[in-house]
Amino acid sequence: MSKRMIAALAALAVSGGAPGAASAQEVKIGLILPYTGPGAELSPNMDRAIDLYQKLDAAQIKPFKLTIIKRDSKAPNGAAAKVDTQELLTQEKVDVIAGYIYSPDAIASAPVITAGKRLAVIMNAGTAFITNLSPYYVRTSFTLWQSSYVMGEQAAKYLHAKTAVVAYTDYPPGKDALDAFKYAFEHNGGKVIDAIPAGGPGATPDFTPFFQRAKDEHPNVLFVFVPAGDQATAVVKTYAALGMKAAGIQLTGTGDIVPDNMLQGMGDSAIGLITVHHYNADLDNPQNKAFIAAWKKAYGADATPDFTSVGAWDGIAAIVHALHATKGKIDDGAAAVKSLEGWKFASPQGPIEIDPQTRDIVMNEYLDQVYKGSDGKLHEKVLATFHNVKDQCKALAIGPCAPKK
Ligand code: PHB
Repeated sequence: MSKRMIAALAALAVSGGAPGAASAQEVKIGLILPYTGPGAELSPNMDRAIDLYQKLDAAQIKPFKLTIIKRDSKAPNGAAAKVDTQELLTQEKVDVIAGYIYSPDAIASAPVITAGKRLAVIMNAGTAFITNLSPYYVRTSFTLWQSSYVMGEQAAKYLHAKTAVVAYTDYPPGKDALDAFKYAFEHNGGKVIDAIPAGGPGATPDFTPFFQRAKDEHPNVLFVFVPAGDQATAVVKTYAALGMKAAGIQLTGTGDIVPDNMLQGMGDSAIGLITVHHYNADLDNPQNKAFIAAWKKAYGADATPDFTSVGAWDGIAAIVHALHATKGKIDDGAAAVKSLEGWKFASPQGPIEIDPQTRDIVMNEYLDQVYKGSDGKLHEKVLATFHNVKDQCKALAIGPCAPKK
């Protein structure tokens, strides 16, 4: 037996485990995303972000080893996500839960998260009241009250619009988008003349009848929220097909209608679109430049991360922070949550912080316009930046965020 082998066996005897397990404490993360069904197109951009973080920031993760256990939340109605959450907590005995693209998945899982007493990091779902449903929820994504509120304000102040029609996907984040846009627009002198529920979060509806109704009402702006993915492309194409721009109606929305990874596929119809969001791939800051370069190196020159990728990236960074702050005892959910209250991070989207009161993210919102660059590709130009925006539903304590009487 060689000296090296003897040394390796001795080390194994001391650690009492397999090679490699000696120093690394394994941390199990249960990741719940839609791998099948209408949301399946959104999950790879989050998975890729989580993989990339582990590769690039391997040194930061040490001495821990992250094991990601994936489960499929299927249709965006909460049923499978709730079962997944239960199974991951009780059978797989994960230390942390993460993921949830669709709000119904996080809403339905909340009681299970509370019973399981583990940190759960929401990486996308954006209905404001979700973080009120469990003390173990921490959100690194966004709320629709952040983007839609700023868009409502800027529709009045920047675009000088007087009238708006809102079209929204008829489920909790869509209702938040409507309420937030309407509140801010009307407090700044505008009037929402119609609010059109435009299908559910599942299969992409034909937007023609909804947008035709809006066109016939001649508003200054059409404000749209749909969940990112194929629905976004259909929104932009239908707006163009109905000649709404020529009719003098400006399409606005949350950034969900122009996700970066789908922008090139939208073609010239997207040019001129005005949205508010916390991220676009063209953001000019050192973290985003490094993020985009690493992404293209890993996944190809034409690959582009989007806001869902950034929610996952920031979410993994949050988990790694909690791991170190709790000295590996991240399975103590209360301690893990506490360690994230007030946590600050230099994200590709700009500086972020977890609000210690609400466990929601505080971040910049950007007023963006789509344009065609000299490279022939579509890009987003930042027209204005709004710093440290909190969830306005909780800040104003209105609607579903009002204190219970
Ligand atoms: C949500 O269900 O909360 C959701 C899904 C997709 C988005 C935004 C919000 O693009």
